[in-house]
Amino acid sequence: MNKQKLWDKFGQTFRDFDLESGAYKAPGRVNLIGEHTDYNDGFVMPMAIEKEITMLAQLRPDRKVKFYSLDYDQLVEYDLDNLEYDEENVWANYLMGVIDEIQKLGERLQGFNLMFTGNIPQGSGLSSSAALEVVTAMAITDLHKIKIDGVEMALLAQRAENNFVGVQCGIMDQYISRLGQKDHALLIDCRTNDYELVPFKNDNYQIVICNSKVERGLVDSEYNQRRRECNQAVEFFAERENVEITALRDVELETVEKYKDQLEENVYKRAKHVVSENERVLASQIALETDDMQKFGELMYASHRSLSEDYEVSCKELDILVDLAAEEKIEGARMTGAGFGGCTVNLVKKDNLDQFVANIKEKYKEKTGIDADIYVSNPGDGAHKF
Ligand code: GLA
Repeated sequence: MNKQKLWDKFGQTFRDFDLESGAYKAPGRVNLIGEHTDYNDGFVMPMAIEKEITMLAQLRPDRKVKFYSLDYDQLVEYDLDNLEYDEENVWANYLMGVIDEIQKLGERLQGFNLMFTGNIPQGSGLSSSAALEVVTAMAITDLHKIKIDGVEMALLAQRAENNFVGVQCGIMDQYISRLGQKDHALLIDCRTNDYELVPFKNDNYQIVICNSKVERGLVDSEYNQRRRECNQAVEFFAERENVEITALRDVELETVEKYKDQLEENVYKRAKHVVSENERVLASQIALETDDMQKFGELMYASHRSLSEDYEVSCKELDILVDLAAEEKIEGARMTGAGFGGCTVNLVKKDNLDQFVANIKEKYKEKTGIDADIYVSNPGDGAHKF
């Protein structure tokens, strides 16, 4: 739907108040490398994709908030002074969480109407929920003329998910949805929350996302379990080493190996993944900056092996997609996002693109009975008004 049609729909859904209004977009993301490192104060390298959530917003003269999800065709209404988790309309909690966090900053909000629609496939690990939080934060702060910088907004959106929605995610998804830049991946330091732009505009290669169509069933409980195991590793190393260790970011691979026999097997494997993955992210930055796509591709495959064997967050279907990419001699492939389903990210030579898409669809279907969805995306811009 174009912008005018969306405003027409907005007008049909809500009364026209003749108050401040605006239109906003926030993208989903694919993580190129650096998985399960963000909550370990480590490094990640995601890019925003050319799929997004679009939101129209307008102030109201009272203290009500009304949300309309165009895709679900559902309209809900709440009171700004009484926001509570909605068991029935689960999607509305992402928006309420953001409002709650803005109010916690001490901002006095007035009522507003929000309408949104999106084309980021849900539950596929491309961060549709982070995009929804970020676009909501952008809409509300803009309408109320609240000044908040990009990193602060990403952190606020993350808190909305942690506190209101109840998912203990790290900062990566909200960060890239807010701060992504066209033709670039971002190397984010999740300890300092600084980023560096990593150019990704290669005439010969294309990022291709393969959706396994496996819904990420176990993801929340397993995610929290991995976080606990990482904390266990940190406590273990901190007690034994003479340097300050507050996160796995502070640990060297040598140290992990030194204590291999004393660590619980799972804890050892989790630490090994996180520590080695941080090294791979930094090596990937150099590979991309020097246009060494072969090296970057190798690092992607290595990341997948580590996630599958040591961090144990892959699944049969994701492994099949990565194996098929290897069989097709694709430069690089790995699972992306939290795991247990969702998508793989592939680094594909443009000359091989059509053949890759056709072959992987056919062979994946043969092996699993599932029709994979394939998306080709360049790095897009982060959230913005339009
Ligand atoms: C999810 C979380 C992120 C990150 C990834 C794994 O997408 O939201 O914060 O932890 O999993 O890398």
